[in-house]
Amino acid sequence: MGAIKKFRMSQIETLAIDGWLPPRESEEPRIAAMLESGKVLLLPNLRFELRSDERRFLDPRWSDRKSKNISYDPASKTIKGAFGNDADLEDLRRLLERFHLRATGLITQLFPAYAAHLRIAAASFRPMPVAGRASSWRKDDSRLHIDAFPSRPNRGERILRVFANVNPNDVPRVWRVGEPFPDLAQRFLKKLPRQWPGSAALLSALKITKSRRSAYDHLMLHLHDAMKFDLDYQKTAPQETVPFAAGSCWICFSDQTSHAVMSGQYLFEQTLHLPVAGMYNADSSPLRVLEKLRKRRLA
Ligand code: SIN
Ligand code: FE
Repeated sequence: MGAIKKFRMSQIETLAIDGWLPPRESEEPRIAAMLESGKVLLLPNLRFELRSDERRFLDPRWSDRKSKNISYDPASKTIKGAFGNDADLEDLRRLLERFHLRATGLITQLFPAYAAHLRIAAASFRPMPVAGRASSWRKDDSRLHIDAFPSRPNRGERILRVFANVNPNDVPRVWRVGEPFPDLAQRFLKKLPRQWPGSAALLSALKITKSRRSAYDHLMLHLHDAMKFDLDYQKTAPQETVPFAAGSCWICFSDQTSHAVMSGQYLFEQTLHLPVAGMYNADSSPLRVLEKLRKRRLA
């Protein structure tokens, strides 16, 4: 057709870091700017090592089958979602605890400005193969989406995640990564339903939400749904397929980076929450991007 093909920048940025406590970087502002603009930071040389006696946990049989993931709560230092005898469960708990410590240490080392602001949430171990089919389109994480959770309003607080593929057979975890947040916000914002007056109070009173759903939470939830529901968008949206190799780690703000998981097995993940005020550049946050488009405060 002769038209000049538009060059799209990859949403993946590779860092050479190969240890969990990398020396403090002169590169901090540059790396922070990449992360906060919604890029996925890929650390191909950073491996979360399992000791030989821990490799037995690379098996779906440790799941209690009621929950998809085995999770570690840093407040109580306990695990949930696992099935096994006390000694095995204690070893598994320690494994999750070690990942939790490494992942949180990595973030505070790379982004020292976050340290004072972070609210460190759960870590998870995902021993099941990425399923072929989800129970509903809304729960189908093989569709491009941004993370937003119906029962947990966050009023703009960020969702930062560290992932480690620990597959022992060199099976990559394959994601699709979509377009930058401002692009998808602009694309969908006009189509999102309005929040009815009184609905936030009602959802909270009915205990459907754990706290009041802000206008921000309402928009993010509907953005998540609108992306997943639109099969044409799923096919035609700007996107790249990214095979995260076994033995690699990656970091992103999953409330901002459009992502979908296509295949893989055996993943560790740590979630950290960061108030917008703790960012290097709050203007790049989904909250500020949406507020700018809506021309009003949303949280
Ligand atoms: C997701 O956050 O959508 C899933 C990520 C994964 O399990 O790889
Ligand atoms: Fe997700």
